Amino acid sequence: MDVQKAIRARRSIRKYSPREISEYKLTKVLEAMRLAPSAKNLQPWKFIIINNEEIKRKLIPACRGQAFVAEAPIIVAGCALLNEAWGGMGGYMSSYPIDLAIAIDHLTLIATEEGLGTCWIGAFDEGEVKKILKVPEGVRVVALTPLGYPLSKKHTLTPRKALTEIICYNEYS
Ligand SMILES: Cc1cc2nc3c(=O)[nH]c(=O)nc-3n(C[C@H](O)[C@H](O)[C@H](O)COP(=O)(O)O)c2cc1C
Repeated sequence: MDVQKAIRARRSIRKYSPREISEYKLTKVLEAMRLAPSAKNLQPWKFIIINNEEIKRKLIPACRGQAFVAEAPIIVAGCALLNEAWGGMGGYMSSYPIDLAIAIDHLTLIATEEGLGTCWIGAFDEGEVKKILKVPEGVRVVALTPLGYPLSKKHTLTPRKALTEIICYNEYS
C-alpha cells in the first residue's frame, strides 16, 4: 500500500477483534514510530506497549469509559520525556506534542497498511493513566491508541473541510 492509499484508508476504529497481532507485524508498526522525525532529532519519547489484560481493563475508566480501547490486543501509550524535548521551539513552546503526534501518526498509517486499526485517544485522565502505567515525574502521556484488527471492514468516511476552505495563498485570508 502506498502512503496516499494508507492516508485515504485510515479511519478511527472503535470496534476490535481479539485476534492477536504477530510479533512480525507489531515490530513493523513500532519501527515506523521509531523512524518518525522530531525537533532536533531529540526523539523525546517512550512508547508503552500494553498487552496485559488487567492493565488494559484498568485503563477504561481512565479513558473516560471508552471501553473499546481494551478490546484490541494492544494499547500503545505515547509518552513525552519533557527534559529531552526541545523546550524553546520557535522561542515559545516545547516540541513534545508535535514530536509525539508525528510518531503516532506514523503508527496509524503503517497499521492501516498492515490491516490493523487504531484510534487516537485524547480523552483520558492523565493522572490516572500515569498511575496505572507507573509513568514517572517529568514524563507526560500525550496519546493512547488501541492497536488491533478491526471487527468490520466497513467504515464510514468522516467529512473534511474542502481545500478551498483551508488553503490561502501568500497571506492569511
Ligand atoms: C488529538 C485527538 C484526540 C482524539 N481523541 C479521541 C478520543 O478520545 N476518542 C475517540 O473515540 N476518538 C478520538 N479521536 C479521533 C477523532 O474523533 C477522529 O480522528 C476524527 O473524528 C476523524 O475521524 P477519522 O479518524 O475516522 O478520520 C481523537 C483524534 C485526535 C487527533
